[in-house]
Amino acid sequence: MMTLYETIFARRSVRKYDEAPLDAQSLSAIQEYLAGIKQLPGHRARFEVVAGSKLKGGLAPYAILAFSGDDEEALVNIGYTLQEVDLWLQSQGWGSVWCGMAAPLDKTPNYRILLGFGATDVPFRDGENEFKRKKISEISNADNVIARAARLAPSAMNLQPWKLIFSDGQLKVQLNVRGIGRVFPGKLGLFDIGIVLKHIELALAHTGKTINMRSFSGSGKDFTLTLSTSENH
Ligand SMILES: Cc1cc2nc3c(=O)[nH]c(=O)nc-3n(C[C@H](O)[C@H](O)[C@H](O)COP(=O)(O)O)c2cc1C
Repeated sequence: MMTLYETIFARRSVRKYDEAPLDAQSLSAIQEYLAGIKQLPGHRARFEVVAGSKLKGGLAPYAILAFSGDDEEALVNIGYTLQEVDLWLQSQGWGSVWCGMAAPLDKTPNYRILLGFGATDVPFRDGENEFKRKKISEISNADNVIARAARLAPSAMNLQPWKLIFSDGQLKVQLNVRGIGRVFPGKLGLFDIGIVLKHIELALAHTGKTINMRSFSGSGKDFTLTLSTSENH
């Protein structure tokens, strides 16, 4: 079985699923993973597993709905938290796909976004060259293990709206919204920042480092996340 870090280099958005329902044991394993999931400090988004029939525009037989406040940090937290679920589901052999266009059929207050999932026989990617992504130099001022994992993160419309700036022991992650991204400012880009933060955290852990400080500054398209890192002891 692949680790979450290894899954970064093999995952994909899955849009073709087996229609047969998942067994109760699989669904409860997913519920259990969600119940124990790590969120950003001070955040407590709520997650709910539903059948795809409860959605409009859903791309998968099941979905995890995310509920939270709608301030910028809360949306970053959802990206960060559900991206771990995306990687975990795929590491377990299921398919998953972020789905900004879908929505629950019933009006549900505080609903923010969903991650679709289900059984699939769509294979993993063979390696980094199967990913359609910007060059490292377009998203980062350094080419290293962290930037390589960040580069492969999924994002809404594959806009990859982030810029990594490394300087001694510190890493800034800026929201970099250009072109079509300007039409969709805010929300989706903030999920994307949380998503890339999860990839960054896993890559840091892989190199024996932890994030020991996170601060948020700026707002709208100037949103920036500043991380400082230290060696694990
Ligand atoms: C926040 C977010 C919302 C997304 N919404 C949709 C969607 O509504 N429909 C869809 O087909 N894919 C959606 N995607 C999937 C992206 O298109 C996909 O991640 C990107 O093209 C990169 O491809 P990959 O995930 O296969 O690496 C979304 C991804 C993210 C992160």
